[in-house]
Amino acid sequence: MKVKEGIGLQDVQAVYSGPEGDLWELLMGEQIHIGGFASSMDLAERAGIAPGSKGVDLCCCTGAGMRFLTRFLGVTSMTGVDITDRVIERGRDRCRAAGTDGRIRFVRSEATATGLPDSTFDFAWGEDAWCYVSDKAALIREVVRLVRPGGIVAFTDWVEGLAGLSETEADRFCAFMKFPSLATVDDYRELLVENGCRVSVAVDTGRFAPYVDLYLDMLSRQLFYDVMRIIGFDEEMFRDLSTEMAFMQGLAREGRIAQGLLVANKPS
Ligand SMILES: C[S@@+](CC[C@H](N)C(=O)[O-])C[C@H]1O[C@@H](n2cnc3c(N)ncnc32)[C@H](O)[C@@H]1O
Repeated sequence: MKVKEGIGLQDVQAVYSGPEGDLWELLMGEQIHIGGFASSMDLAERAGIAPGSKGVDLCCCTGAGMRFLTRFLGVTSMTGVDITDRVIERGRDRCRAAGTDGRIRFVRSEATATGLPDSTFDFAWGEDAWCYVSDKAALIREVVRLVRPGGIVAFTDWVEGLAGLSETEADRFCAFMKFPSLATVDDYRELLVENGCRVSVAVDTGRFAPYVDLYLDMLSRQLFYDVMRIIGFDEEMFRDLSTEMAFMQGLAREGRIAQGLLVANKPS
């Protein structure tokens, strides 16, 4: 586990309350995770998310994952937890516009201490977001607490890859991304096992590098004007952004960072 000192919740909230969050949404779409729809479907299929089930999405942002699950997987109801007011407001507006009929609700809370009752959900869900949570052990404890016995924990996340990061690389990458810590797939596997879960899938999806190539291509070509508008036509900021994205691309191509995918079951 890599730890980046000096990054806290307020930094993450600032990202998703301002232009940086808008930039991620411009590059990735409403589903702010690598692989978009295909990644969500891959996770849902590997986890065996069943129609009629009830889930919780930790760090749900505007709730794109919850709208995906209710629309395409027949999930009955979703509770989304997020700490940033702006994304929750946007999420509620988008659910109204999508006509989700009260099947999706948002809770404003820290993901490690949601205050939701024990053993309430058939599954817990997370997509490329737990990298923002500092205390991964507390997060996994909370996730497992929320799921009913026999329930499912399914998530993707940005992780340190098998090739590993040097301290300098981790420091630079986490500073750019505002990640307070970065786990490996094995770190997550161990935390799940420590909490009594049986882990059935723990893999690198292989999606990170090709998708960063795509984002960089869009950034420099089709979306250049839109990116510049979001960052207030600040050319120096655009150069810094491009440099850090290119650095990330290098790390991804070398397998130093990856998108991890894990599925586990809480014991019955
Ligand atoms: C990358 S976005 C999530 C994207 C979303 N899963 C999707 O696929 O569209 C990260 C979200 O995590 C939220 N977040 C970060 N740290 C959090 C924490 N400790 N507790 C709750 N929410 C948190 C942020 O507010 C932000 O909305």
